[in-house]
Amino acid sequence: MDDRQDTRPEIEPCFWDIANLKWPIKGKTKPDLIIFDPPYFKKQSNNYNPDGISGMSKANYLKLLKDFFALAHLNAKKSTQMAFINADWRDFQNTPARNETRTNSILINDYLRILNQSGWQETHIIQAPLSSERFQANVVSAMQKKKIIGVTGRYVIMSKKK
Ligand SMILES: C[S@@+](CC[C@H](N)C(=O)[O-])C[C@H]1O[C@@H](n2cnc3c(N)ncnc32)[C@H](O)[C@@H]1O
Repeated sequence: MDDRQDTRPEIEPCFWDIANLKWPIKGKTKPDLIIFDPPYFKKQSNNYNPDGISGMSKANYLKLLKDFFALAHLNAKKSTQMAFINADWRDFQNTPARNETRTNSILINDYLRILNQSGWQETHIIQAPLSSERFQANVVSAMQKKKIIGVTGRYVIMSKKK
C-alpha cells in the first residue's frame, strides 16, 4: 500500500496521529470494507518509529486498537465489513512453551474481546499461514531442544456491526 501518486492516485496517503485518532474520509459515503493492518505488537518495533504503535505497552496497544475499532464503528454502515489483520503475540523468544506467561502476550481472545466491546461482531476468523522458510534447520533444532513453540501465521478477523 505504498503511496504511488503517479500510478495509483486513488491510494490517498494518511498518517494516523495515534494520540488523536480522527476518521480520515470526508463526505457522507460510508465504506463497504475497512482493512486494518496495523503494526504488530513488538514485532517490528525496531523497524518502525520508536514512538509508534509497535513499541507501546500491552495496555496502550490494546487501548489504541479499541479506540480505532470504536471510531471505525462510528463511521461504518450496517453492511460494512472490517478485515482486521494481526497475529498472536506470545513472549516466546528463548522461552520454553511451559514457561510462557500471559503477562505480556496478546492472543486472539484479546482482539476479539475489544472488537466485541467496540460494537463489532466477528463473522469469520481466517487463518493466514506464512511460509515456514524462515524456520531454518539450526533454529528449529535449537527450538526443539528448548521446547519452544514458534508461530507461522496471522489472522484475518472479519467483523460486522452488532
Ligand atoms: C503490518 S504493516 C501493513 C502493511 C500494509 N498492509 C501493506 O500491504 O503495505 C503496518 C504498516 O503501518 C504503517 N504505519 C505505522 N504507523 C502508522 C501511522 N501512525 N499511520 C499510518 N500508517 C502507519 C507502517 O509503516 C507499516 O507500513
